[in-house]
Amino acid sequence: MKPTLGLNSVQPAYLRVRRRTETLCDPLEVDDFNIQTMPDVSPVKWHIAHVTWFFETFILTNYLDGYKVFHPRFAHLFNSYYETVGTFHPRPERGFLNRPTIKEVFAYRAHVDAAMVALLEDEGHDDRETIRFLTLVGLNHEQQHQELMLTDLKHVFANNPLRPAYHDVTLPSTTSKTHSWPSFDGGLVEIGHSGSLRDGYFYDNETPVHKVYLEPYRLASHPVSNGEFIEFMEDGGYGRSDLWLSEAWATVRDQGWLAPFYWEKTEQGGWAQMTLSGLKPVDLNAPVCHVSFFEADAFARWVGKRLPSEAEWEVAARGLPIEGNFQEDDRFNPIGGDDSYGGEGLTQMFGDVWEWTASPYSAYPGFKPLGGSLGEYNGKFMCSQFVLRGGSCVTPKEHIRPTYRNFFYPKDRWQFSGFRLAESV
Ligand SMILES: [Fe+2]
Repeated sequence: MKPTLGLNSVQPAYLRVRRRTETLCDPLEVDDFNIQTMPDVSPVKWHIAHVTWFFETFILTNYLDGYKVFHPRFAHLFNSYYETVGTFHPRPERGFLNRPTIKEVFAYRAHVDAAMVALLEDEGHDDRETIRFLTLVGLNHEQQHQELMLTDLKHVFANNPLRPAYHDVTLPSTTSKTHSWPSFDGGLVEIGHSGSLRDGYFYDNETPVHKVYLEPYRLASHPVSNGEFIEFMEDGGYGRSDLWLSEAWATVRDQGWLAPFYWEKTEQGGWAQMTLSGLKPVDLNAPVCHVSFFEADAFARWVGKRLPSEAEWEVAARGLPIEGNFQEDDRFNPIGGDDSYGGEGLTQMFGDVWEWTASPYSAYPGFKPLGGSLGEYNGKFMCSQFVLRGGSCVTPKEHIRPTYRNFFYPKDRWQFSGFRLAESV
């Protein structure tokens, strides 16, 4: 018999994660909370209400006797995309919501927190195993939104001609690194998560464990750096149709791409990039960030390499310590790694930048989405997107693992996305 894990075992995590979200709001003025600079960007006010709606909808209304929803219409405003739960406000219009005020949203958070704390103290609850699991889902969901808040805030601050800073952090100076190409035997390997919470939290899209055959391969020891990407730019990379997939080339022409997102030319002719600490010179040794799958793929073709598959990435990452530059480091910007971790092997596999892979985001063989409405969490997005691995400088460290699959459209650049090269042996 498996021992039953108590509900109160998740209460400290609940309080910690919820508090962290609010700490991330500390540098904000009231004017910052409600701005939506493009349809993909959600205002901070919406993010912090939506994660609260998640606990209210999936846990409190179902499992806390006598729970009263904070406001009957909030479910419409703060449901994101759960068709089976009810209607929702259009995503591109989240920034139109002057009410509720930010003060009312914080009151909503306090109302839900008080109810959740009470529920998590009910050790005798008949549904305690379900509540515990759903609380873990809610906390991991909130951590995803912490990352999205920072990602979206960067877009908001970057769209202001004053180039204001969310916070002021001095990034460490960096040095160029020794590159190597660790090799891997491949063969018949297994990837994916075991699907047991005893092996740590996981999303349904990471399951089940399954076999994949890999030819022998090598991975670059480091993600591609800004300095290396500038070489591509200076070689006319953005102007050479032979380097780009057809859809990518159409996007380059249509969008007028000449450099990674958030980069701008300085008066002296160098490159600067918008960061959450304002406009900063581009660090040549830091991983290139805010590039699309299209740009990563074109760079790889230019240099005669390729992007790794997600299976190649996972096999290489398995067993490495989850170390790196994460949200907890409070830099919110990728930095040039050094050779002190990973030694001759792979460095910066975790943290700094999400790494695009060559793998379309699709279901693993035997994949079963979660039951009920939470089956809409991941599975219905398995179309036209690519997998990214490893987490970034805005991902909470405890949120990431070798099996974690992030996914975005190949043209997307506002995420903290970079890449590392691979080659077949
Ligand atoms: Fe969400």
